[in-house]
Amino acid sequence: MAHTQTTPPPANRLQGRRIVITGAASGIGRATAELFAAEGAALTLMDLNNEGLQQLARTTGAFAFEADITDEASVERAVQQGAAAMGGIDGVVNAAGVLLRGSVLEVGLKEWRRVLDINITGTYLVVRCCLPWLKQVPGSTIVNLGSAQSLLPNAPNRTAYATSKGGVLNLTRALAAELAPDIRANTVCPGLVETPMTEEIRGNVNNYALRRLGQPLEVARSILFLTTSESSYVTGAALAVDGGRSFH
Ligand SMILES: NC(=O)c1ccc[n+]([C@@H]2O[C@H](COP(=O)([O-])OP(=O)(O)OC[C@H]3O[C@@H](n4cnc5c(N)ncnc54)[C@H](O)[C@@H]3O)[C@@H](O)[C@H]2O)c1
Repeated sequence: MAHTQTTPPPANRLQGRRIVITGAASGIGRATAELFAAEGAALTLMDLNNEGLQQLARTTGAFAFEADITDEASVERAVQQGAAAMGGIDGVVNAAGVLLRGSVLEVGLKEWRRVLDINITGTYLVVRCCLPWLKQVPGSTIVNLGSAQSLLPNAPNRTAYATSKGGVLNLTRALAAELAPDIRANTVCPGLVETPMTEEIRGNVNNYALRRLGQPLEVARSILFLTTSESSYVTGAALAVDGGRSFH
C-alpha cells in the first residue's frame, strides 16, 4: 500500500543523537533501527538474536551487543560499551518483548513470570542502566513499547501479555513524572503489526477502523516523533498506533 510503503527522504532529524534500541534484530525494533540510522543517529543495538543483530549492525554502522534484557550484568555491559563507543546516550527505545497466548488456567506461573520479567522488568533494567547517561543531556528521551492491550485489554487469552503491557504503560508514566523536566518518557501502543511476533495471528481486520494491520515502519515513525524535539511538549503520553482498534 502506497501510504505504508512510501518513506519520506531522510532529513537527519537525529543527527548528533546517540540512541540505545532493544529488540533490534526483528520487527518493530529493527524498523526503528533502520529508520533512526537513516535519520543520522548513532546507535547501540541489543537483542538475544545475535545473528540478526550483527547483520543489521553491518548495514547501519551501529554498535551491536547480544544481551538478555532480564540479565543485569549483560545489560550493564552493553550499555557501558555502547555509551563509550557513541560518546554518551541521549535516547532509549525499548522494543524487546515477548507475546504469550493462553488462558489464565493454561499459563503456568513460570511462563507468567517470564512474560512480566521480560516485558516489564527488562524495560526497567535498560532504562535504569541508561539513566546516568540520559541525565547528562537535557532533552533526552525514553520510548517504551506498550500495546493496544495496554489501553484496552480485550483480546481473549492474552492476560499475561496484557498485564505486562499495562505495566509498561504505568512504568513509563511514572518515569515521565520522576524524570521531568529533563527527560521525556512516552509509550507507543501498537495494534496488530505484521512482524515475526504475530506471524500466527492475523486477526480480524474489521476490528480496525483502517481495515488493515500495521507495518513495522508505521510504528517506527511514531517512535521517531517521540524521540525528536518535534514532540518536545509530550511526556507521559500513550500514543495508540493501532489503526483505530482501541476506539473502534
Ligand atoms: N507486532 C505487534 O503486533 C505488536 C503489537 C503491540 C506491541 N508490540 C510490541 O512491540 C515490541 C516489538 O515487537 P515485534 O512485533 O517487533 O516482535 P519481534 O518478535 O519481531 O521482535 C522482538 C525482539 O525482541 C527480542 N527479545 C525478546 N526477548 C528478549 C530479551 N529477553 N532480551 C533481549 N531481546 C529480547 C527478540 O529476540 C526479537 O528480536 C514488543 O514489545 C511487542 O510486545 C508488538
